[in-house]
Amino acid sequence: MRALLFVILGLAVGAMGATFALSALRQGTPFHDGVMAVMQHHMGALRANVRAKQCDAKVSAERLARLRLTAGDIREAFPDMDAGFARAGATLDAALDAAVAAAPASCDGLAVALKPVGDACQSCHQQYR
Ligand code: HEC
Repeated sequence: MRALLFVILGLAVGAMGATFALSALRQGTPFHDGVMAVMQHHMGALRANVRAKQCDAKVSAERLARLRLTAGDIREAFPDMDAGFARAGATLDAALDAAVAAAPASCDGLAVALKPVGDACQSCHQQYR
């Protein structure tokens, strides 16, 4: 009986520790910074590919798809924003949907597809960052 109590106590303390650790982690890397950092990473990599003239269709498609998925997290990452912010997010979603659908197979095509995406990032930043 006593041993069982200790096991239960141990589990409770462990769960509390895990909760504290998780919330500390979340404060260290806020979700909204993470979402933006991941998008920045993929945009940077795609632009570097254009500059290096290495625009493999499959590589671009994969990266654009990951960028699109991350953009889908913007609204959850910024829960307290107004309707204009949601529209700016939707503009980015639409630009990325178009880029994914275009499936660019050349560097010129990729640059053309990225232009409205970059514009969508910038226009939201001008207003809300
Ligand atoms: C709907 C609005 C919106 C869109 C669209 C948007 N951002 Fe942001 N972004 C913000 C806001 C707001 C901040 C400031 C957040 C903060 O200070 O933590 C920000 C901050 C950033 C930062 C700085 C992050 C940091 O740690 O301070 C980067 C990098 C970034 N965005 C990249 C991008 C890229 C790349 C895109 C397009 C693919 C994009 N953003 C699209 C709203 C947006």
